[in-house]
Amino acid sequence: MSETLNTTVYDPALWAEAVAWQQECGVFDLLSDQPVDAFAARELEKASAPAAIRTDAAPRPAAAPARPAAPARAKPAAARPPTNQHARRGLEAVADIAEAEKRAAACSSIEELVAAVEDFDGCLLKDTASNTVFGDGPTDSDIMIIGEAPGADEDRQGRPFVGRSGQMLDEMLSYIGLKREEDFRITNIVFWRPPGNRKPNAGEVALCWPFSKRHIELVQPKVILAVGGLSAQTLLDPNLRITRERGKWRSLDVRGSAVPVLPTLHPAYLLRQPVNKREAWTDLLTLKQFLNNPEG
Ligand code: URA
Repeated sequence: MSETLNTTVYDPALWAEAVAWQQECGVFDLLSDQPVDAFAARELEKASAPAAIRTDAAPRPAAAPARPAAPARAKPAAARPPTNQHARRGLEAVADIAEAEKRAAACSSIEELVAAVEDFDGCLLKDTASNTVFGDGPTDSDIMIIGEAPGADEDRQGRPFVGRSGQMLDEMLSYIGLKREEDFRITNIVFWRPPGNRKPNAGEVALCWPFSKRHIELVQPKVILAVGGLSAQTLLDPNLRITRERGKWRSLDVRGSAVPVLPTLHPAYLLRQPVNKREAWTDLLTLKQFLNNPEG
């Protein structure tokens, strides 16, 4: 009998499911250009570690004859792990941010901005995403809702907040009389799904920010609802703690005008911690009050 694995017993749907599961778990390095032999890299690292920091090194006998120091061993090129795309040098990232700023500033309509974002390859999240998820809802709305990052459903459909969190958000907003198709523009801080739904890192946020900023400038909202910690931190203050600061009005400078921003809890958090829906509901009532009387 053959010792080799009989792959015909697996049907393609099961393989697809297995790959999707790995992606859900954040195993996105499978998508690197070359395979990484992490065991070989670790062995090599151990072998080339200086003796002083090796805790397993036996003490030398006092009378051991002095030996000339071994020449430093260069790592054989083949055993070196290939450069990970996600570990690009900082200078390249700075150049990409400058490029994002240039492209965003050149856009004078939402349509141009969508095209610019879709054409921008500087953010590596794009490599593992199926779609760019930019925005939804009227482009001249007085209300802008800004979330964090697309999830799996958003990535599949190319629209923000269409999965479970989004459905819950839409439902909650409907209680204060707001409908996505008519009443608000909705978007995210980053436009591509981070693999495994991990939190976007600071570099990814910085690369998307010039486009988000231009998005806000073009929509010219009268009020922004910042949904979730990452959104509030990006718009307002990197040290903001959403559970403490939610429901308190802050403001964002948009071309010299102070736009009121209300931070609130993320619906994904509410799905995990339904007991906090009461706070989110209070925040929506605060928003409703503002909308009824913007002059205050
Ligand atoms: N969570 C977000 O922050 N944005 C989405 O679009 C979906 C889930």
